[in-house]
Amino acid sequence: MVTETSATAENVTVIVDGKEHKFPKGTNLLEACQSVGAKVPFFCYHPGLSSPAVCRQCLVEVKGSPKPVPSCYMTVADKMEVTTNSPKVLDVRRQMLEFTLLNHPIDCPICDKAGECSLQRHYFDWNGRLARNEGVKVRKAKVVDVGKHIVLDQERCILCTRCIRVCNEVAKSPDLTMANRGSHEVLTTAPGHRLDNPYSLNTVDVCPVGALTAKDFRFARRAWEIFSTPSVCPGCATGCSIEVHASRGKIRRLVPRENPAVNKFWMCDEGRFEYKTVHDHRVMLPLVGGKRARLDVAVTEAAKLLRADGGSSPSRVGVVFSAGASNEDDHALLRLAADGLKTERIYVGGRPPGWSDAILVSADKNPNSAAVRAMAPTARTLEDLRADVASGAVTALVVFGNETLVLAKDKLTAVVALASHQGPLLASANVVLPVAVWAEVDGSFTNKDGRVQRIHAAISPPGESQPGWRTICALAGKLGLALDYTDADDVFAEASARHAFLKGAVWGPASQPVQLRFGESRG
Ligand code: SF4
Ligand code: SF4
Ligand code: FES
Repeated sequence: MVTETSATAENVTVIVDGKEHKFPKGTNLLEACQSVGAKVPFFCYHPGLSSPAVCRQCLVEVKGSPKPVPSCYMTVADKMEVTTNSPKVLDVRRQMLEFTLLNHPIDCPICDKAGECSLQRHYFDWNGRLARNEGVKVRKAKVVDVGKHIVLDQERCILCTRCIRVCNEVAKSPDLTMANRGSHEVLTTAPGHRLDNPYSLNTVDVCPVGALTAKDFRFARRAWEIFSTPSVCPGCATGCSIEVHASRGKIRRLVPRENPAVNKFWMCDEGRFEYKTVHDHRVMLPLVGGKRARLDVAVTEAAKLLRADGGSSPSRVGVVFSAGASNEDDHALLRLAADGLKTERIYVGGRPPGWSDAILVSADKNPNSAAVRAMAPTARTLEDLRADVASGAVTALVVFGNETLVLAKDKLTAVVALASHQGPLLASANVVLPVAVWAEVDGSFTNKDGRVQRIHAAISPPGESQPGWRTICALAGKLGLALDYTDADDVFAEASARHAFLKGAVWGPASQPVQLRFGESRG
């Protein structure tokens, strides 16, 4: 959104509701009005898409125009005089809303969008009158399976075309179109197409009503039961800004959050399903020799096993980083390796590369590879680790994440796994320490362009798992290294003093989950 600016040659002066304001030349009039607190309702306008002005909900009066004009379709001009709240404007908007509602089913009690629906909100804000339509409403198809992830209710569609523009302009895949005319006009898939492009779920986000719904989420939770927490997608090195939507301790969906520098308003479908892995197959409890143990007992045992290396020089303890861990976990692990275990045998693992495109998706499927590369530039691969284990150069290991790692157990005297999920590594681990994942911790990731972005805890970690850096502190303490961080900010403060790529990263205030209801984050 734009903001009002001070006077320069590139600014124009506009009078909005009797008050003079300055805006950069070319500013969209609807955005200009919103930025100075003049509330103008809209359906078809979206700041990330073109403006066809099809809904006529954003009408304002502009001095010199014989009739109200759609503000989303105009840019500010010098000496423009705009009225957003005259009786005439309020009346035409009310009429347009009545027209939009003419054939709209009164489905709210059973509609997935209730509580975050723009039509519902605008009706209460701008109309609030009883319907005058006593005839039979035009019936259209409900529960139309239009794509792998999406169901369409044609009756609820208000024909705003936002979803069509998302496909055309963002996904570059013209999968949707309008068919028929007048009150029989419907949204449908284009001939020979399904709504199956890799960005298809953005159509659900931009749909101002409950016409397009995600199969994965529909009827799972009402909007007012959802708490929203700002975070960063862990699906690849792009690091799209997201909201984590959770209720009753479980993540229900991930949706994009505006970030002009990274993902604008969008995210890929694959990233949306990253939440699925958060809850399944978790490591809940510390284990020693495969048996449940108290955390302090497990940490003491881990330190004892690692000390058994006997301080050989060079050290034969290897430390395995994860390209999916946070900057804070990476920094604490680096301190443990360098100052606690005094080893230079550092390796890095993570998810293997995958598909990419020129829109958002990166081939690197890890959210924090850039941080490991910057903190431990000499870190070697898991292939190198296997060779070092086979040759006897590494006889003990601390492994963070990387639960899918398979090692020759007979060559190792100790494996200490800091793990969030079950996997083959745990069968060969002498000690397992449960750690929390990205959605359960405060911290930060560094994306492929070096942008350091904050993540926030949306839910509590399960069982006895805790942030990785906290477990590393406990292990370091048993090895005689005092790492006395109190919280993630504390770890970050030390990390940014030591690593140039973290310097200058600025945080907003720490964020708590907020209730979503009409939070204006969607639709
Ligand atoms: S389905 Fe939703 S986004 Fe698409 S045209 Fe209809 S109301 Fe607009
Ligand atoms: S492009 Fe990458 S970071 Fe963005 S939503 Fe997809 S997986 Fe997540
Ligand atoms: S928002 Fe302006 S015409 Fe639809």
